Amino acid sequence: MEYRLLGRTGLRVSALGFGCGAVGGLLVRGDYAEMIRAVARGVELGVNYFDTAAIYGAGLSETNLGRVLAELRPDVLVGTKVMIREEELDDIPAAVIRSVERSLSRLRRPQVDLIQLHNPLAVAHQPGRSWLTAPALAVVGEALERLCEQGKARFWGINGIGETAALHAAVELGQAHTIQCCYNLINPSAGQPVSPGFPFQDYAGLIDRAAGQGMGVIAIRVLAGGALSGSTDRHAHAAATVEPIATGRDYAEDVAHARRFDFLVQEGFVGSLVEAAIRFALAKPEISTVLVGISDLAQLEQAVEFVARGPLPPADRPAMKSSPAMKSPGY
Ligand SMILES: NC(=O)c1ccc[n+]([C@@H]2O[C@H](COP(=O)([O-])OP(=O)(O)OC[C@H]3O[C@@H](n4cnc5c(N)ncnc54)[C@H](OP(=O)(O)O)[C@@H]3O)[C@@H](O)[C@H]2O)c1
Repeated sequence: MEYRLLGRTGLRVSALGFGCGAVGGLLVRGDYAEMIRAVARGVELGVNYFDTAAIYGAGLSETNLGRVLAELRPDVLVGTKVMIREEELDDIPAAVIRSVERSLSRLRRPQVDLIQLHNPLAVAHQPGRSWLTAPALAVVGEALERLCEQGKARFWGINGIGETAALHAAVELGQAHTIQCCYNLINPSAGQPVSPGFPFQDYAGLIDRAAGQGMGVIAIRVLAGGALSGSTDRHAHAAATVEPIATGRDYAEDVAHARRFDFLVQEGFVGSLVEAAIRFALAKPEISTVLVGISDLAQLEQAVEFVARGPLPPADRPAMKSSPAMKSPGY
């Protein structure tokens, strides 16, 4: 397993991170024996970062991860998140403290390595939505700093979801230690320029900007929630429906976009679209860890195998550049 620096935290994280979210679903809907087997195998193969959140499975992901880690006692890093609901906006510090205390209790730990704001960011307040503006983010940052001082967390981060201008402004402040960024073959705009007419949200090089500020970058949605498997079939543990983030209107549209990369398999660059997607994210050195949402042990073992094959060769490779997928608008 390759290890990379998580920005200025100084932590060394495995290039593959274990996604404990509800989309992959193993830590939410799996059976306990399989969770234990998968986490133990992940640790054995060198995975040392586990990413969860208070809202994944309404606390179930944290509860299950806490139980598994208490039993296995591996030396790993745990990151979780706090989502502030709209009705909590009038007392953000209290909401942050309440959420983190509950997370620690579910995780059975006195401290997490990373506490991340889960809310998307926006330039202006949007009634009915829990997207946070700069003043609210400043209050969250102070509260998370205080929790770090108290030893409840070692470092804190933000979520790279929301309006591009708000995300860049937050990164420019240089306060948070980490950021989670969407980065995949369908929407690579957080890590590479896209041409005019690009059909999805343009994150405008958010990853590079964050890394330039010394932030650790955690890649999310690397498989577009599973669409980059190229199939609409869902695993029994996986979320039955997946809401795209910064890609198509729905999952089926994302699968259709994913199939434009079939040439990578047909031309022998990789053995599968999943391999292509994971190795594509790995090729961005500014990314500290590539999260994959895991549905079962086999998916975890495959992800480790793909990471071991190393980064996908650069996208300017002649054969890739001349392919229909790369020539289409926006790529
Ligand atoms: N900060 C945020 O707001 C945010 C948002 C999203 C995710 N995240 C984090 O990022 C992690 C990963 O993201 P994600 O779960 O949303 O999506 P993802 O990693 O892009 O996709 C996960 C899906 O990929 C499929 N998959 C994984 N390995 C596979 C394999 N070997 N072969 C075929 N299909 C495979 C599975 O689909 P099937 O089960 O149907 O096979 C799984 O449900 C989450 O667990 C979470 O920790 C954070």
